[in-house]
Amino acid sequence: MNNSKQTNPSVTLHEASSQYQSNTHKIKWLAKTIVTLTVSLFLFSCGSKQVENNEEEVFVSELLDKMTLEEKIGQLHQITSQWNMTGPAPEYAQGHEERLKSGLVGSMLNVIGAEATLNAQKLVVENSRLGIPLIFGYDVIHGYRTMFPVPLGEAASWDPEVVKLSASIAALESAAAGLHWTFAPMMDVGRDARWGRVMEGAGEDPYLASILSAARVRGFQGENLADQKTIAACAKHFAGYAFAESGKDYNNVDISNATLHNVILPPFKASTAAGAATYMNSFNTIQGLPASSNEYIQRQLLKGDWGFDGFVVSDWNSIGEMVAHGAARDLKEAANMAINAGSDMDMEGNAYTNFLAELVEESKVDIKIIDDAVKRVLTVKYRLGLFEDPYKYSNKEWEKNTLYSLGNKSAARKVARESIVLLKNEENKLPISKSIKSIAVVGPLADDKDAPLGNWRADAVANSAVSVLEGIKARAGKDVTINYAKGCDLVTSERNFAGEIKFNTTDRTGFAAAVAAAKKSEIVLLAIGEDCFQSGEGRSQADIRLKGLQMELFDAIYAVNPNIVIVLMNGRPVAIPELDAKAPAILETWFLGSEAGHAIADVVFGDHNPSGKLPMTFPRSNGQIPIYYNAMNTGRPGPKNEVFWSHYTDQSNAPLYPFGYGLSYTDFKYDNLAVDSSDPSAIQVSVTLQNTGAVTGTEVAQLYIRDQFASLVRPIKELKGFQKVTLKSGESKNLTFTLTEKELGFYDNEGNYKVEDGMFDVMVGTNSTDLLTETFLLTAEVVQ
Ligand code: BGC
Repeated sequence: MNNSKQTNPSVTLHEASSQYQSNTHKIKWLAKTIVTLTVSLFLFSCGSKQVENNEEEVFVSELLDKMTLEEKIGQLHQITSQWNMTGPAPEYAQGHEERLKSGLVGSMLNVIGAEATLNAQKLVVENSRLGIPLIFGYDVIHGYRTMFPVPLGEAASWDPEVVKLSASIAALESAAAGLHWTFAPMMDVGRDARWGRVMEGAGEDPYLASILSAARVRGFQGENLADQKTIAACAKHFAGYAFAESGKDYNNVDISNATLHNVILPPFKASTAAGAATYMNSFNTIQGLPASSNEYIQRQLLKGDWGFDGFVVSDWNSIGEMVAHGAARDLKEAANMAINAGSDMDMEGNAYTNFLAELVEESKVDIKIIDDAVKRVLTVKYRLGLFEDPYKYSNKEWEKNTLYSLGNKSAARKVARESIVLLKNEENKLPISKSIKSIAVVGPLADDKDAPLGNWRADAVANSAVSVLEGIKARAGKDVTINYAKGCDLVTSERNFAGEIKFNTTDRTGFAAAVAAAKKSEIVLLAIGEDCFQSGEGRSQADIRLKGLQMELFDAIYAVNPNIVIVLMNGRPVAIPELDAKAPAILETWFLGSEAGHAIADVVFGDHNPSGKLPMTFPRSNGQIPIYYNAMNTGRPGPKNEVFWSHYTDQSNAPLYPFGYGLSYTDFKYDNLAVDSSDPSAIQVSVTLQNTGAVTGTEVAQLYIRDQFASLVRPIKELKGFQKVTLKSGESKNLTFTLTEKELGFYDNEGNYKVEDGMFDVMVGTNSTDLLTETFLLTAEVVQ
């Protein structure tokens, strides 16, 4: 390739000096001059927003005009780094430094920390001809240094404010560590608990996922991307990735148009509306075409109908993988297909950097396509304020004062508490009695300070979480004896993001101590579940029952002391019918993050009354998967007394715990469900909710609808509203929900949204199964 410095003598902007100050000042000066001249004409007639947009547009266009083709392609090239930017590059990164210095890289991922990002940025800004700053991206999935619950856990809060808080602190810490961009939120609606990445999403429901994903975007991005405390979000994976057949990661995806439009796309659309700055496409094919080369979803829908003006990054080498898919003959063809289809930036694929120039010369790729992609990348950089100051996020002092601060940890504890779901509580075992004198804290995860950090843990410090044991000890006080025993190990392999996990299936030497601890205690807290790297990318499981010797340990303890509270830790729904049958109390605590132990103690001792609700159905067995509440009716729904209906002959159709399920230390009663459909454009639904128990509690009241008959079959239930309400003992409240065409319609197979008149069921209650039902007739008026 040509060296841009020699091929574009007309550009004088950076000839004088290679120093950043000089470069950026010149860019700013040039931009400002042009902007002043061009924009001043509009100043009297336009609002300030429009002026801002014009400034942005003028700046980006002017910069683009100065760029060589090679430099433009560089902006579409993203590379990873795990090497210390102050030291020599390892073999895989040979040549990176030269490319960076030449301005032939637009973005890096996995460079983290104020110092490393500063060094990398300097390399580019001080040496390259135009000094265009890099955008640093990283997988900040549930916190940067201070860990919050895994996203599936946070979704159990059913609380957009809680989710937003978590994302905003993740953004603050990331920004302080020099980052500009997170590859989150993942908004893949997932119905298959075997797929390890359900841990990263908001569960199985498009409505809940839309609200929570949009909240996450707002949390990361704040009001203004240029604010130093915010970072750009990335809506991923566009689209359909969670529908990998048999829950096996990266597997084939086969989805109908109805599923695409009604289930998969809504959270993406909501996130675009919330201002998501970037998108990431996905590894899978959509109706035979890899997402990276899918013009329909990337150009027609996203950039066309939805008006998205940010950029789309490929997933890691997803452009290259089009060859393995059999969709492109070679990498060059893959590059051609992907850029034309609207994939703007190539993550670690080397497809664009190697072939786009040739493709333009051969007229296979129109320069306008390249320009559009580059403009999008530059626009996001502009919005982040990187042209004003490319180093503004890389400040070691700020980093030091921000990461893992007391305030961040206290927010993590709050979010963690809100994410806990009480699955079972026979005879009010929980909260534990104030008069209790001895507690056994047992299990392979009980004193594990690392597991609660979960997978995709960004820059968390290993073993830094508050363990269950620590949390319980801190709260119990000196009058309560805590008898701890591990019982057994869950895994025998070392914890490792990329390694295979080996479970302990033979070593029972710790059983006796655990049994002894249980025997001499009034109550047992048994912390079991999944290893933290058992869910996440590449972590699909054919069997979602608890692994290793954990169920055996449970049985051994149960034999001597059945007064057991199960403290579950897991990143996906697990099949635990035996625990449900025997253990009197079960707490779902996911991987709760840095403050896990304290949050669990808050709930165990009743300082916090749990209000989490499952964002994903818990199956009884592997054979029930995929199981989700918003399924279509069949022609033979049953239940019937004979065999010819849709069911298993060896197991109930019902899940172990349904979507939306979760108990409280108090009781709630729903009454007086009423529907007023006199104004068909705003159907009013009301219900009385009463706290009939003894203590204050918070309930998530859920509203579902069913369109009884439509031109395309509709699900038996669809969540269309929820309210999180706190009521004192005995208090009641009248809740009202409004249903408009936004809630009552659906997408047809061409992607057109329609509302059809006819009978609807409306259901309100405490979870997707226990509901009051009313019906109403939607008249044609609203359909017009
Ligand atoms: C994952 C993405 C992630 C990317 C960068 C890919 O393997 O699918 O979700 O953002 O790697 O780490």
